[in-house]
Amino acid sequence: MRSLSLTIDLDEIITKLVNRLSKIMAISKVSIYLKTEESEKVKVYETSEQKENNEIIFYEPDKNDPFFVSLIEQEKINTEEFMINYYLKISEELEKRKISLSLPLIVQNRLIGILNLGNKKFEDEFSQEDIFLLETISTQASIAIDNAISYKKLEKAYKELKNTQEELIKAEKLSTIGRMASSIIHDVKTPITSIIGFAQLIGFKTENKLLQEYTKQIIRSAEQMHGMIQEILDFAKGKEKELNKKKHNLEEIIDEAVLELKNYLEHNNIKLKLVRDFNNSLYLDKQKVVRVLYNVIKNAIESMPDGGRITIKTYPDNNNAVISITDTGKGIHPEIKNKIFEPFFSNGKNNGTGLGLSIVKKIVEAHKGKISVESNPGKGTTFFISFPIIKDIT
Ligand SMILES: Nc1ncnc2c1ncn2[C@@H]1O[C@H](COP(=O)(O)OP(=O)(O)OP(=O)(O)O)[C@@H](O)[C@H]1O
Ligand SMILES: [Mg+2]
Repeated sequence: MRSLSLTIDLDEIITKLVNRLSKIMAISKVSIYLKTEESEKVKVYETSEQKENNEIIFYEPDKNDPFFVSLIEQEKINTEEFMINYYLKISEELEKRKISLSLPLIVQNRLIGILNLGNKKFEDEFSQEDIFLLETISTQASIAIDNAISYKKLEKAYKELKNTQEELIKAEKLSTIGRMASSIIHDVKTPITSIIGFAQLIGFKTENKLLQEYTKQIIRSAEQMHGMIQEILDFAKGKEKELNKKKHNLEEIIDEAVLELKNYLEHNNIKLKLVRDFNNSLYLDKQKVVRVLYNVIKNAIESMPDGGRITIKTYPDNNNAVISITDTGKGIHPEIKNKIFEPFFSNGKNNGTGLGLSIVKKIVEAHKGKISVESNPGKGTTFFISFPIIKDIT
């Protein structure tokens, strides 16, 4: 029985105890009633006579089961008095269920469980020696079980603490970035505007085609920088939750997002296919949903540096309108699939803020919609975005 104290897994301890008692002492049936972490709940571990290999069965006892009642009623106990009352209460049950010995498991005046033993297989009764041995075993087992329960509780508390801590760090990270971004954006806006202004001026003044091309590039980069900073700032302020919903045609919204990306699509040698099977209007914040589609389509383009195809489909599904966006790009590895919607998660890009999909998710959820993704690494990815169809909108 020493090995009981070497393990801290509760189920393992109980299974070992129940199995060994039934084997070594040759007892027909062994069961343990144990209080679980949830209050008012008891779990029974029992050897099954029907099953081979000493398999243990688990169940929740009936609410009128006297062992269950004793366990639930007793908290702090005075051992001697408790024992007398206990045996008075369960005496009938012992005969009914062919239990030869019932041993309460007590640790520091707390009743944590009950060990019930059936008949001995080869002898009529337990000898005085047997009883002494069983009592010793049950005392040791009680301590091992109690330790395992405490460990489980500690482990749970630790996990909760860790989660809270992670959430706090995330929130702190966001608000720090938000504060930084708002001061940066004010400081950076002016120089960026002057970079754009002077670059335009150089472009107008010069006849040199190469210089004109360079100034265009400067303007594009400066605008991109401005856009990225604005995006972080909006995100930190939680802007995607403020909706201005009106009745809109979904197709128009898709067309607008596609138009914004027209040059980018052409520049990257990407063919676009639209399959429209949803022709009704939806109640949406147009600007924000354009942003959703823009971000998802832009990711799709970025996943196909050597060109490819994007298919956008719209179709009804129960009470939802679904937009699916499929690309033939590099796909998303299963390991990062559940991270892509997290703020600041970016993978395989040089200049991403990692906010694109977390903004998308926030906007979709603010509309009570859903977003999911299916991906086949090396073959492509499909994002499914659904918005509820709200009837009776005038
Ligand atoms: N269609 C896609 N195919 C392959 N990977 C994708 C696709 N869409 C998203 N991802 C992956 O998810 C990550 C997170 O996307 P998200 O849009 O949030 O950030 P980002 O594109 O890296 O940065 P940003 O959108 O701010 O420019 C991407 O970096 C990319 O690795
Ligand atoms: Mg993106």
